[in-house]
Amino acid sequence: MTIKAYVYDAYGTLFDVHSVSEKAESEFKGYGKTISEQWRKKQVEYFMLHQLTGNYKPFSEVTKNALLYTLKNLSLQSNEDTLHSLMQSYLELEVYEEVRATLETLQNQNKTQIIFSNGNYEMLNPLVEKRDLNHLLKVLSVDDVKQYKPAPAAYQYALETLGVEPYEVLFMSSNFWDITGASSFGFKTAWINRAGFEIDELGIKPDYIYKDLRGLLE
Ligand code: LAC
Repeated sequence: MTIKAYVYDAYGTLFDVHSVSEKAESEFKGYGKTISEQWRKKQVEYFMLHQLTGNYKPFSEVTKNALLYTLKNLSLQSNEDTLHSLMQSYLELEVYEEVRATLETLQNQNKTQIIFSNGNYEMLNPLVEKRDLNHLLKVLSVDDVKQYKPAPAAYQYALETLGVEPYEVLFMSSNFWDITGASSFGFKTAWINRAGFEIDELGIKPDYIYKDLRGLLE
């Protein structure tokens, strides 16, 4: 069975969400890493809860709310400028160093490549443009169907957009919760295990495990 579409998660997989810690450190000296870690954790928790309770809110709103909680939880005073500056850093996340060259190689092999992300277009498009990836892949957001990954309905939307069979899709994510969703849905999966985590006890085994996207070229 050949793979007809390469589908990439965005945050954590192509882009380093923890590159916000630099701006966070300049705004709140000594708290940069803590803010970045708690912010991402709360962001994931919030979109999971919005999905489970059937109360969809766009990723930009979820990300801002997760930041508000994080600063409050750390008793850090913020103002609109600080919040805007930190939210802006989400539009300028670093792209992992091997991403562009790997995507270019795969594009030359005529693979269909898309981003499929819980991010909404307001956050994704500026980032993809800033990091000069928009000539390499189309951006697809769950915001079109208001169903967050890892819900099956989210992957169903991506599949319908691609017009292929589930087993013809290779789905890449560094987030094991996303690999679990994509694998349960029926996609082939490559876990981009950048952090060297252990496999979660979720009864799911990725089809491939790579430490970065270069594994796709093997
Ligand atoms: C994404 C993040 C939330 O869907 O993993 O891009």
